Amino acid sequence: MLIAGGGTGDGAIQLAQQLAWRGEGGEVVYLDRSVAARQVAEARAKARGLANLRFVTASLLDLATLGLGPFDYIDCCGVLHHLADPLAGLRALVGVLAPGGGLGLMLYGALGRTGVYPLQRALARLSEGQPAAHRLALARQLLDALPAGNWFRRNPYLGDHRTGDAGLHDLLLNPRDRAYTVDELAGLAAAAGLRITGFLPPLRYDPVMLLPTGELARRAQALPFLSRAALAEELAGSLKTHVFYAVAATNALPPAVPDRPDQVPALREQAAEGLAAALARSQALTADFDGQKLRLALPPGTADVVRLVDGRRSLEAIRQALAPVPAWPDYLARFQAIYQPLNALNLLLLGGQGAAGR
Ligand SMILES: C[S@@+](CC[C@H](N)C(=O)[O-])C[C@H]1O[C@@H](n2cnc3c(N)ncnc32)[C@H](O)[C@@H]1O
Repeated sequence: MLIAGGGTGDGAIQLAQQLAWRGEGGEVVYLDRSVAARQVAEARAKARGLANLRFVTASLLDLATLGLGPFDYIDCCGVLHHLADPLAGLRALVGVLAPGGGLGLMLYGALGRTGVYPLQRALARLSEGQPAAHRLALARQLLDALPAGNWFRRNPYLGDHRTGDAGLHDLLLNPRDRAYTVDELAGLAAAAGLRITGFLPPLRYDPVMLLPTGELARRAQALPFLSRAALAEELAGSLKTHVFYAVAATNALPPAVPDRPDQVPALREQAAEGLAAALARSQALTADFDGQKLRLALPPGTADVVRLVDGRRSLEAIRQALAPVPAWPDYLARFQAIYQPLNALNLLLLGGQGAAGR
């Protein structure tokens, strides 16, 4: 796996740790051109005793000549939108992607960052050439003085500038960044020979959730996948980042759906017991996406199934552990009804083959 623009190591450490726990080999290559960031990431790897991480200091734009890869998975989170030519960066990543491999990307979202770029330009005019500390002071003065109609001031979704100097600098004084609509992402991916396979969390990119039932929802439902995602962004207006997966456009990999006994469901950042207990109480999950409240009903018996999801048991092993053991077709229909909403919230994922199948 390649972590391109690994920064202080969040993605690299997480993936290397997951690989180490699986105990099946594999290596994570951390690539960044910043030595300072690398030192933080290296210290984190050392603290965890991770021996499956390789650190490389270089630009991702030079991947073609670094002799690294090919990689089964490439993570590039919050990096390409800082490049002068993001497409050249994406193409450099695609150049080291193994056949059948995939990318996980994060790029800024245009609508949720409404107001950021005019204010960046205003600050550049007012503070060009000043030392960083003074630019920060000028930024704070300007924020306090913004007129009521200013779109940055009116955008309730922006808050990084209140988290401290680093957040303020990153949001308003970054030397270069840009943001994308879903349509622009689709164009970027296509130009690099990629196909977007999904956005996270999937529910945020489902416009049907944002529309009243009836003709509008039916029309939204009939749109192709990327157009639906673009519509959801246009309606929500609050998406500040886009996290998405992509594969080579020639890769016809279908979306993962529960349909085989050897598939292994896994909860993401959740203990099964806690989620099962919550589900046993309410039979529904609620989500709050920037003030947009959504309620997802779950079928009866969801808690009994979720309790058994441990990232190791296969669908078949979970079925066998239920009492009474349901027939496979009934069980599969029930599992799919549980998987769909939990996956839409990015809580439940599906792996290919687990311990039971090996
Ligand atoms: C916002 S940080 C993201 C870090 C990390 N991916 C994360 O999500 O925590 C962006 C990182 O990209 C790195 N970067 C920027 N341009 C790069 C390039 N051309 N090649 C490699 N790294 C680059 C920066 O040094 C910085 O560490």
